[in-house]
Amino acid sequence: MAAPNPFEKQTSIPGVKHIIAVSSGKGGVGKSTVATNLAMALGKKSKVGLLDADIYGPSIPRMLGTLGQKPGIDPETNQLIPITRYGIKLMSIGFLIEENAAVVWRGPMLFKAMDQFLRDVQWGELDYLVVDLPPGTGDIQLTLAQKVPVAGAVVVSTPQNVALLDVKKAVDMFQRLNVPLLGMIENMAYMINPANGEKMQLFPKGEIDSYAKAQGIAKLGEVPFNPSVGLACEAGIPIVEANSNGAEAQEFMRIADRIREVCP
Ligand SMILES: Nc1ncnc2c1ncn2[C@@H]1O[C@H](COP(=O)(O)OP(=O)(O)O)[C@@H](O)[C@H]1O
Ligand SMILES: [Mg+2]
Repeated sequence: MAAPNPFEKQTSIPGVKHIIAVSSGKGGVGKSTVATNLAMALGKKSKVGLLDADIYGPSIPRMLGTLGQKPGIDPETNQLIPITRYGIKLMSIGFLIEENAAVVWRGPMLFKAMDQFLRDVQWGELDYLVVDLPPGTGDIQLTLAQKVPVAGAVVVSTPQNVALLDVKKAVDMFQRLNVPLLGMIENMAYMINPANGEKMQLFPKGEIDSYAKAQGIAKLGEVPFNPSVGLACEAGIPIVEANSNGAEAQEFMRIADRIREVCP
């Protein structure tokens, strides 16, 4: 018998039009915040699912106020039924294990878990399946790219130079995996000074912009730092929903429009 081929052919998920991977080189740059708000923004005009593929640090259940919910199982297909919130279909390891339980899986188990999230979930008809990847360049990223055709990847970064090396690694990974890069989102790009309404730089501005330009990588948007973005996520009501007229929500809406243009 032939050995199982880990590079088996990609098969699309029936009913799912575009898979959009949200990634970052580093943790803590706001990847899950961006994935969540991007899904919400896309969801204003399209059918959207959000897959929390950050097996080690799932945060989608908390960010969407669905902590502790348990997905049902369709008795006919044996598929997991996603949790629906604000019209977005959600799936996360966080719905399946205790919140404080550590996941200690490696390669093959991660491979299996990811495969099940893609195949054994009743995603139904979706225009976009947004995938919140773990930070870095590991097994989960590889599995996603091997198993399904990814329409495009978005790399989230903060502005400063310490993030640049990680951005380069993430870009290099998607190039190797033949995943089209939709562009970069700069998170916490600036802050509006509440005293005078002026833009101020939270972090020293690094060379990420010039790097992106030199590589021909599109800049999809600049999301300001605003404590209300974090507070909204903590409260389980993403900022796109909580304050849809604010600068942050408006930027997420523009980013969603750009993605709609590239992946109609
Ligand atoms: N634009 C922003 N303004 C304010 N706080 C933010 C912003 N983006 C992210 N945060 C906060 O930064 C922290 C890390 O964000 P998170 O999305 O969990 O990052 P990651 O998924 O990359 O680890 C969270 O506390 C989140 O609320
Ligand atoms: Mg996260």
